[in-house]
Amino acid sequence: MTDPAVRTPPVPQTTPGGFRAMMSGFPTGVCIVTCTALDGTPRGMTCSSLCSVSVAPPTLLVCLRDGSPTLRGILDSGRFAVNLLHDGAREAAELFASGDPRRFQLLPWEQPPGTAGPHLVRDAHTVADCDVALTQKMGDHVTVFGEARDIRQQQPRPPLLYGLRQFRSWSAA
Ligand SMILES: Cc1cc2nc3c(=O)[nH]c(=O)nc-3n(C[C@H](O)[C@H](O)[C@H](O)COP(=O)(O)O)c2cc1C
Repeated sequence: MTDPAVRTPPVPQTTPGGFRAMMSGFPTGVCIVTCTALDGTPRGMTCSSLCSVSVAPPTLLVCLRDGSPTLRGILDSGRFAVNLLHDGAREAAELFASGDPRRFQLLPWEQPPGTAGPHLVRDAHTVADCDVALTQKMGDHVTVFGEARDIRQQQPRPPLLYGLRQFRSWSAA
């Protein structure tokens, strides 16, 4: 018998709720996209829309809510960092999805010289510094294509996962 908590949702309708329910049946990894606004303020948001686009040049994309302060900072600075979260970073993911303006005061981060945005030294297993290559507005989000300039592994840990509206750890089973 399948655990009801891990059954796919039964609602494919083209309403906003039905679309969200459909996408909840497509689990992903979780990252926090960060940048530095023009006034020096760190910005960042939890993001599961990360997708690989090209290997040469090494390019990824993220889809960010139009109007997001993090998106504004990325568009202004032309750079962003992708912090891939490990399985102990669920609280960080929730914090950076909460809209809490104190989010950067509540976890450790650093921004080494020349990097694109804050690096989450405790919560990310890997960080990629990216330059914005292209942007495309689509509906209520903006797709940002980024070319990865520098990739650093910080901790060899399993990734955090998100699907069916739940955070999960990678399981060997
Ligand atoms: C697991 C998870 C994944 C998310 N992925 C995205 C995403 O890909 N794009 C997006 O715009 N918002 C996403 N969100 C919502 C944002 O994290 C949330 O709206 C956040 O407050 C935005 O930060 P901002 O204040 O800089 O706009 C996600 C939230 C969660 C919990």
